[in-house]
Amino acid sequence: MSDASVTGEKHGLRTVDRRGLLVGGLALLSGIQAGSGAETAGLKTFAAAKGVRFGGAVQARDLAASAAYAGLVAQECAVITAENDMKWPALQPEPDRRTPEAADRIVAFARAHGLAVRGHTLVWGQDGRMPKWFEAMARSGGPAGARALEAQMVAHIRDLAGRYREAIVSWDVVNETLEARDGRGDGLRRSVLLDVFGPSWIDVAFRTARDAAPDATLVYNDYGTEQAKPWKVQKRTMVLRFLEALKSRGVPVQAFGVQAHLAGDEAFDARSFATFLREIASLGLAIEVTELDVDDHTWPADIGERDRRGAELIERFLDVCLAERATTTVVTWGLGDALSYQNRPGWRKVRSDGSTAPARPLPFDAEWRRKPMWHAMARAFQNAPAR
Ligand code: XIL
Repeated sequence: MSDASVTGEKHGLRTVDRRGLLVGGLALLSGIQAGSGAETAGLKTFAAAKGVRFGGAVQARDLAASAAYAGLVAQECAVITAENDMKWPALQPEPDRRTPEAADRIVAFARAHGLAVRGHTLVWGQDGRMPKWFEAMARSGGPAGARALEAQMVAHIRDLAGRYREAIVSWDVVNETLEARDGRGDGLRRSVLLDVFGPSWIDVAFRTARDAAPDATLVYNDYGTEQAKPWKVQKRTMVLRFLEALKSRGVPVQAFGVQAHLAGDEAFDARSFATFLREIASLGLAIEVTELDVDDHTWPADIGERDRRGAELIERFLDVCLAERATTTVVTWGLGDALSYQNRPGWRKVRSDGSTAPARPLPFDAEWRRKPMWHAMARAFQNAPAR
């Protein structure tokens, strides 16, 4: 993430904040006053009835900015993920400077409201996602460099997983480390970490996490396995081979994290995705949906039409995920459209129809009203088998 995009995000949020959260607070309050218990039950209630944990990704600064938003999070979610506040560059911007305040605030919020926390992410196997100083250390090379790198990674995992040991129910131990285009037989993404350390960095990360967080579910998290484009079909095979290899080496991986950033312009083939989930489950692994949202930039800007299509896609997707009893968790990447990263500078996509309408990726709108997607999700939980 470049410095420019960090500044851009902050700027974007301020605009959204004034417009969205203030109005949202009023809408939420009136909703709570007017609604019966059944109308106001959050998605977590429908999910919990089937033994599933529902939640959303949050940022500490947004929880602090609006009590109404924070109330909505507590009402809807049984679990929260830190969207950015637990990433390594956010926690240790320099070797000797640690900045856990925002992550601490998320954990304190969860504790105050009785919520679980998903940890995201201990290590990210992609250049540009680890602290700059760590990647520079890797580039400096040599056998001493490899040892220093291992020591830093192990210390980071121990500190972070140990610090939040009580709160975190599952950890994304390794994020996004498979990339077919990099042409390796084992499917691993090329990175400085891989160059210097070798593929065993993944085993070391999981083993260290196991020691530091003995009660958390340890997850491999990745994108691009959900839909029908050829590279995604291929990625499913890569993920299965990778997880199988980890298991056969005795690496303590326990779940696959399906990111589920769904693309509106792609087919979703329920049967082949169901088969993939079954294969994951038959390795003895759980399944967590970790970053669910919809990218609607190719759909017509008309809000009714987009919301209808988004709700339909999410419901079909969740029906398949929830029919698989190994699926334990469903987390959306944010809760409402106004705070989605898809609407932040640096991430906003040009719409196919040329309009500048904001994206509508999530179950709540910019005024924090429930969208058709919210109702589709509630239905999917209601129709799901219990586990
Ligand atoms: C994204 C955040 O939402 C953005 O705010 C940030 O600028 C970049 O990261 N896969 C992941 C998440 O595992 O960590 C990413 O989150 C989205 C894609």
